[in-house]
Amino acid sequence: MRRPLVAGNWKMHGTRQSVEDLLLGLNGQEWPEAVELAVAPPALYLQQCGEALQGSPIRLAAQNCAWQAEPGALTGEVSPSQLRDAGCEFVLVGHSERRTLFGETDAVICRKFAAALACGLRPILCVGETREQMEAGQTADVVGRQLQAVLEVFGVGGLAQGVVAYEPVWAIGTGLTATPEQAQDVHSMIRGRLALLDSDQAGCVQIIYGGSVKADNAVDLFGMPDIDGGLVGGASLNAEEFGAIARAA
Ligand code: G3P
Repeated sequence: MRRPLVAGNWKMHGTRQSVEDLLLGLNGQEWPEAVELAVAPPALYLQQCGEALQGSPIRLAAQNCAWQAEPGALTGEVSPSQLRDAGCEFVLVGHSERRTLFGETDAVICRKFAAALACGLRPILCVGETREQMEAGQTADVVGRQLQAVLEVFGVGGLAQGVVAYEPVWAIGTGLTATPEQAQDVHSMIRGRLALLDSDQAGCVQIIYGGSVKADNAVDLFGMPDIDGGLVGGASLNAEEFGAIARAA
């Protein structure tokens, strides 16, 4: 009943040339029909990706958006309406790098979620705890608080218009992956919380896992009942590996 989603977050990587090479590689892959696919290049390369991926099942995602839906006086920002105009279907909101390095609070992230929805984008709400929080047994509290900020405004139905990405901060770019069981525990905790509010809608929310997803751990992670695909960083910069991860979903 939930379609898996595999999205590649290219972060601040690439040049016009390397993006062209990666797109060629992506266009040479076999993509599973049952899986939703997306790539999130740096904003500068969205247009290039959109053109090269025409006719491909891979959708465009942005890595970030402004907290206001429409264009305006916000130097350096890109509005969700502009992202739509550039062909995006998804946008990441609240990635841990945005939270920690750019000081984005739950309130700001909630505004971005709202602005994205208002423009017809599907926001991918990223949540996850740091290593210290995990070691202190605070995962459920931290993730619960990050979700609550959006749930208070939109409810489970609003969240279901987007996607939740559970990305434990300690697993991002570190090569340390949550075990399938560890990830499943958190995914099931998230779904359980949503079910307390709205049991019908909770079953529809796509909850994907991110944090050192690779071709060799994807099958086990995606085999878990509440893991509906992945948000892939480093490994999405390699077309063959991203293809293999997509086929694992
Ligand atoms: O958004 C994806 C992410 O932060 C995970 O990155 O490199 O650990 O797959 P990576």
